[in-house]
Amino acid sequence: MFPLLQLDGVGVRLGGRQVLSDVSFTVGKGEFAAIIGPNGAGKTTLIRVILGLRPTSAGRVIKGVNGAGAGRVGYVPQKIVIDSDIPLRAWDVVALGLDGHKLGFPFPSRRRREQVEQALQDVGALGYADARVGELSGGEQQRVLIAHALVSRPQLLLLDEPLANLDLRSEQEIVTLLGKLAREHEIAVLLSAHDMNPLLPVMDRIIYVANGKVATGSTDEVVTSEGLTRLYGHPVDVLRVRGRVVVVAGD
Ligand SMILES: Nc1ncnc2c1ncn2[C@@H]1O[C@H](COP(=O)(O)OP(=O)(O)OP(=O)(O)O)[C@@H](O)[C@H]1O
Ligand SMILES: [Mg+2]
Repeated sequence: MFPLLQLDGVGVRLGGRQVLSDVSFTVGKGEFAAIIGPNGAGKTTLIRVILGLRPTSAGRVIKGVNGAGAGRVGYVPQKIVIDSDIPLRAWDVVALGLDGHKLGFPFPSRRRREQVEQALQDVGALGYADARVGELSGGEQQRVLIAHALVSRPQLLLLDEPLANLDLRSEQEIVTLLGKLAREHEIAVLLSAHDMNPLLPVMDRIIYVANGKVATGSTDEVVTSEGLTRLYGHPVDVLRVRGRVVVVAGD
C-alpha cells in the first residue's frame, strides 16, 4: 500500500536541544495511527512538523505520496478556547473550515451549505448546529472541531490530544467516531494521546515517542517491556491487566 504520509529519519531541534531524532514511519489510506508518549515527549512537535509548521533538522516528511495534495490535510489542534460570549455557532466554526471566498460569504452557496451540514452529520453534531460553540460541552466541541477539519474532505486527519479533558463516555464516543471515519471514509487518522488504552480497539499502528526517539508497529510489537526499556533507556515494565496496558517505570 502506498502511504499518504511518510517520515524518513526526521530530526527536530528546538532551542538548541535535539527534541526528536531518527523518526521514521508511514500512515496509509484508511489507517488509524496514534502517537503515544508522556508529557513533553514531542507529540505536538511531531504533528507540527508534519503540518509544515516546524522545520526539521534532518530527514524528510512526504505528504500525499498516494496522489493526495498537501492541501488535503485536516487538523484539530491540542487546545482551542472559545469564550461562551462569542456569538459563533457550531455551524459557523465548521463553515470556517472552507475557504472563505469559496464559501461565498455572506451568502454561502447551496453546495457549500450542504458540505457543512454533511460534516456536522458525519460527526453526529447536526443537533446542535445552531448552538454557540462556547456553550457546548467538551465532547460536543470536540465533534464540532473534527467537523471543521473534515469539511474540506481531507485524506489525512491530524488530531493533537483529541481525548484530553473528555469523560470516559465522550472519550469512547470520539474514538468510535474516528475509527468509523478511518474505516468507512478511508481517511488516514493520525492522533496523539498520552494514554493508549482508549485507542486499543481501533488503533492499527502505534508511534511510541519517548526519550527523543520513536518505536512504531502494532501495539503488540511495540509495547513490550524489552521494547520500551530500549526506547526509554531505563527499565520499564509493561503490564497487561484486564485488556488494559499499563506502563510502569522500573527501578
Ligand atoms: N519553541 C520551543 N523551543 C524550545 N523547546 C521547545 C519548543 N517547543 C517545544 N519545546 C520542547 O520540546 C519538547 C516537546 O514538546 P511537545 O509540546 O512536542 O511535547 P508533547 O509530547 O506534545 O507534550 P504534552 O503531552 O504536554 O502535550 C518539550 O520538552 C518542550 O519543552
Ligand atoms: Mg502536546
